Amino acid sequence: MRIGVLTAGGDCPGLNAAIRAVARSAIQQGDEAIGIRRGYQGLAEDDYVPLDMLRVSGILHQGGTILSTSSFEPIREGAVEKVAAAFEEQRLDAVVAIGGEHTMEITRQLHTDHGLPLVGVPKTIDNDVGGTDFTFGFDTAVQVVTDAIDRLHTTAQSHDRIMVVEVMGRNTGWIAAYAGLAGGADCIVIPEQITTVEEICRDVTRRHDRGKDFSIIVVAEGAKLAFADGEERLIQPVKESDEYGYPRLGGIGAALASELEELTGYETRVTVLGHVQRGGTPTSTDRVLASLYGAQAYELAKAGEFGRMAALHGRTMTSVPLEEAVKVQEVDLGVLEIAKRFFT
Ligand code: F6P
Repeated sequence: MRIGVLTAGGDCPGLNAAIRAVARSAIQQGDEAIGIRRGYQGLAEDDYVPLDMLRVSGILHQGGTILSTSSFEPIREGAVEKVAAAFEEQRLDAVVAIGGEHTMEITRQLHTDHGLPLVGVPKTIDNDVGGTDFTFGFDTAVQVVTDAIDRLHTTAQSHDRIMVVEVMGRNTGWIAAYAGLAGGADCIVIPEQITTVEEICRDVTRRHDRGKDFSIIVVAEGAKLAFADGEERLIQPVKESDEYGYPRLGGIGAALASELEELTGYETRVTVLGHVQRGGTPTSTDRVLASLYGAQAYELAKAGEFGRMAALHGRTMTSVPLEEAVKVQEVDLGVLEIAKRFFT
């Protein structure tokens, strides 16, 4: 078997571990692995790199992706014929597409509507891919944010300040909820549940009344600035969408900080963690998860189980139809409820 591997969408820690797992599984079984560069764009533009033992050695711990990535959409770009022809020309029996929910949707369409032999692997720091419990990349992002909150605690305490920390997560609050709980945040604001500015002010003031003169507020980039009178505002950067028309998020931290400072009178600062959450070395959990996902994807490809995505259910590595993957997985609100016990 000749198996292709590509990484698409935003990068995240653990991609190289997953690429390595697919390639090493293939090599061990006497199969051949080939890397496709820049996601589906590599198939449209004949951009490949052989994944032999040497190429995939020493990459387990490296962040980013040795294959580069892009959000290229063959259907939208009118490149489906070229992509299908690449399977013939390269004698590809299967391609493993490692990506987020958007990539899983592209993969689903290419498989269902155009019959391409594709298998999905879920990755993203956002943990918002349906059909699986956890994506790799998420644990690393949570660790980065937790470390940042720990650091912000000492400076917040020294200056009696409110510190607002804006984290990524797109339209879900997974990173905010997990890192907020791990870092002992005094308030967590996520897209899945409205928290008004007035409610945050009430909690912060209550803390001050109890002698706690500082507060850490974690806010997810996709959360809306909401007020008690029912007004809700989605804050977005000047450029509201990226080159593929997907909404860009960011700015809620500064907007919220300014409201809190004005309403409480407490000095407030904002930290936007941004792409730091996506870069660098994967945690051991993400390395293990990415390796298990990569190995599972190889098994699915070998068995001809196309149109499916490798999935983690509890401790079991299994698979689900790609249709499951494209349903956005919202945060487990039970985690937020526990985190709330520590708010005031
Ligand atoms: O999906 C991963 C993610 O980092 C989101 O959390 C964030 O909203 C988005 O990608 C940022 O995208 P870009 O790297 O294109 O700015």
